Amino acid sequence: MPPIIAVSNQKGGVGKTTSVINLAAGCALAGLKTLVVDNDPQGNASSVLGERGIGPSIYEGGQPLASGQRANLWIINAGKDLLEQEQRLTRQSGGRLALKERLAPLVDRFDVIFIDCPPNLSLLPINALLAANRLLVPLQCEYYALEGLTQLLAYVEDLRATTQATISLSGILLTMYEPNFPLAQQVEREIRHHFAAEALQTVIPRDVSLAAAPSHGKTIFDYDPLSRGGLAYLSATKELLHGFK
Ligand SMILES: Nc1ncnc2c1ncn2[C@@H]1O[C@H](COP(=O)(O)OP(=O)(O)OP(=O)(O)O)[C@@H](O)[C@H]1O
Ligand SMILES: [Mg+2]
Repeated sequence: MPPIIAVSNQKGGVGKTTSVINLAAGCALAGLKTLVVDNDPQGNASSVLGERGIGPSIYEGGQPLASGQRANLWIINAGKDLLEQEQRLTRQSGGRLALKERLAPLVDRFDVIFIDCPPNLSLLPINALLAANRLLVPLQCEYYALEGLTQLLAYVEDLRATTQATISLSGILLTMYEPNFPLAQQVEREIRHHFAAEALQTVIPRDVSLAAAPSHGKTIFDYDPLSRGGLAYLSATKELLHGFK
């Protein structure tokens, strides 16, 4: 079974999609056959790596499409139906396992799979948590970060206790880091104290190139690989790859 990484945090705008896009692009550049499943109705990963709203979502049989000219990288777009899946899944028995079932016939074709999640703990992210074997949490170093993380991890523990979920926390990635902001340093210290093994050494700085790349439909490696953000995601990719061994 390849690493199937749910990139999740119920808090909005913390860098989930930016991390999915650029870590997946980094893995693909390293030669791994990489799949991104866009599991967020906002479709932001699809806008960069594929086409938002084109084709059905994975829940309706959406298939991996080549991500433009990028070697080794595929995307299953957030189809138009994804917005309605929440309600459809609620009505289905076994609606929490739909993503796992759809993904099963595809996993052997890839070396690594990333699942982008919306900023909540509704049925779409629950499907990702049940389909994945690893959890990566992008975290912005701000006041409520640790509480949100504790809540998410308690939720995952509960899923593991009550379902056949095999997911476990395999990484915390500090994002939009501002080294001169005392609160950021304090939150970083706390995270590293409580999650010494899981917190990646690499920290992603707040960087204009990372913010601008998606508006050009580009990953950071297409747009400005030598920017601070590009070098940081390269380093984070290496750490992830090291963890796969
Ligand atoms: N390190 C960074 N430096 C500067 N801007 C960033 C950085 N990471 C992300 N951004 C920008 O911040 C915004 C939120 O990032 P992103 O979309 O990745 O978060 P998200 O957690 O996926 O959001 P949502 O919860 O809505 O899905 C985007 O405009 C993105 O371009
Ligand atoms: Mg997002």
